[in-house]
Amino acid sequence: MRLRLKDRLCGWAAFGAMAVALLLAAGNPGEARAEYGDVVMNQYSEAAGMRPAVFPHWFHRVRYSCKVCHSDLGIKLQAGGTGIDMLKIIDGAYCGACHNGNVAWSVERCDLCHSGKPGTPTQVHQSTIQKLPAPAAASGAKK
Ligand code: HEC
Ligand code: HEC
Ligand code: HEC
Repeated sequence: MRLRLKDRLCGWAAFGAMAVALLLAAGNPGEARAEYGDVVMNQYSEAAGMRPAVFPHWFHRVRYSCKVCHSDLGIKLQAGGTGIDMLKIIDGAYCGACHNGNVAWSVERCDLCHSGKPGTPTQVHQSTIQKLPAPAAASGAKK
């Protein structure tokens, strides 16, 4: 009985170590890419030599009420509608209201936001709405 319990504990320890390793790998924020429903922002980024910015909408929605951003922070209900740029963020507006090293990690972590695939336009990523008016353009982005 004793031995078996010890074996089991060893098993769980190994499993635990593996789970931690997997979590670390999966949680690596440097690997962020635009997923379905994310807002890709590329009004200024690529023109200035940066990858498009990606705003993971659901990641934020589960943490904050809509009002925080769409009323209190003045963010428009339209991808690209607000005209968010880097200077405003550094000044503490929009993303910068939280990504200030206090509420969330700071603007120094460029890659965590500028993780979009080069060439992706400003849009709600893979939203069907974008494909309706221009089916020809959408066919290039086949999954
Ligand atoms: C942490 C901030 C934040 C929160 C919280 C948030 N949004 Fe947004 N939302 C944004 C940003 C940023 C954009 C893109 C605006 C831009 O590009 O100018 C956006 C865009 C949108 C859009 C237009 C794009 C689309 O998906 O069609 C809608 C609609 C929207 N939000 C609805 C909501 C609703 C509903 C909630 C609450 C359930 C919510 N948002 C919560 C930041 C937020
Ligand atoms: C109301 C506060 C708030 C605003 C506004 C906000 N964020 Fe965030 N954001 C957070 C918090 C909190 C986290 C989680 C930080 C952590 O895990 O340490 C986060 C995480 C993220 C992540 C990482 C998501 C992941 O999968 O780990 C990205 C990318 C991001 N934000 C981009 C943006 C961009 C781009 C904007 C502006 C368009 C923005 N955020 C505006 C609070 C905010
Ligand atoms: C919290 C998210 C976030 C972080 C962190 C961040 N950016 Fe941005 N950045 C944005 C958003 C959103 C835009 C506007 C996206 C668009 O429409 O092109 C932007 C735009 C830019 C632009 C385009 C020119 C301009 O004036 O807007 C440059 C250049 C830029 N960022 C550089 C950087 C550099 C360098 C860093 C790191 C020191 C950084 N960014 C960190 C979100 C971020």
